[in-house]
Amino acid sequence: MTRHFLDLSDAGGDAVAAMLNDALDRKAARATWPKGRPDADAPLAGHVLAMIFEKNSTRTRVSFDMAMRQLGGSAIILEAGSTQLGRGETVADTARVLSRMVDAIMIRTDDHAKIEELAHYASVPVINGLTDQSHPCQIMADLLTIVERGIALPGLQMAWLGDGNNVLNSLIEAAGLMKFTIRVGGPEGYEPDARFVERARAAGADIRFTRDPREAVAGAQVVVTDCWVSMGQAGGEAQVAAMQPYQVDEALMAAAVPGAAFMHCLPAHRGEEVTDAVIDSPASAVWDEAENRIHAQKSVLRWALGQL
Ligand code: CP
Ligand code: NVA
Repeated sequence: MTRHFLDLSDAGGDAVAAMLNDALDRKAARATWPKGRPDADAPLAGHVLAMIFEKNSTRTRVSFDMAMRQLGGSAIILEAGSTQLGRGETVADTARVLSRMVDAIMIRTDDHAKIEELAHYASVPVINGLTDQSHPCQIMADLLTIVERGIALPGLQMAWLGDGNNVLNSLIEAAGLMKFTIRVGGPEGYEPDARFVERARAAGADIRFTRDPREAVAGAQVVVTDCWVSMGQAGGEAQVAAMQPYQVDEALMAAAVPGAAFMHCLPAHRGEEVTDAVIDSPASAVWDEAENRIHAQKSVLRWALGQL
């Protein structure tokens, strides 16, 4: 069976834990090395990843490319607009062709159905680099960042502030797999995908919603937010206005547990969802979180290619 990583559940909790351990070990083993030097065992030597981008990206693009270099392989970046996919070649035919040419495919796209179609027709692993529905690779990096801080995932108390978007959907999925709690503070009408909430609750995760940002962060060890309007969302002034009470500022961070970490997948809209004082504070884990995209995705790639 080809191992696709469209969502965290494709791997399951045990594999997620194994990937996090692998990422911790590999990160430690190369701590002082130049960033482009391959790992000593170069486990993906000779392997090539194709990356398709139908939306903008900085971190996903660079971290997957660096991940492949560190694993001893290489990557090809395809801007969808300059490929035949952008001129109407079907997703299915693109999947068939790329499967003959490369060892794995990463795609960032809009409609989640598109990545499911790509995976259906691909005979090599397909990895989700963000869809409108979910962003599992980001959450692998987030979990790594939390574990690195000595916080155990089972029983973790997390707060989310703002829009119920793709990143939150994947965090909720992670809460179900790794058994932690998320308090979501956000406005009515901007809730996450109910299917993710139901599945996580059925798996034993405590997922609660409140309109009160202070209630959301009470007891939280980690406070997470993201942009108020995601790529491809119509958004507009009404959405931004609805999000205003959920800005993460110093006063809100002070209402979480002392020493709570601030996390954000980036890019940040400073002065909107987070203030400079918070994102630039010692509590901010965002630069570790960004770097960890490389380390977490190396393990996702190794899992997808059957090495974990
Ligand atoms: N966090 C994240 O996915 O960043 P990019 O949009 O820059 O890839
Ligand atoms: N929710 C954001 C994440 C960006 C990495 C978006 O989809 O635009």
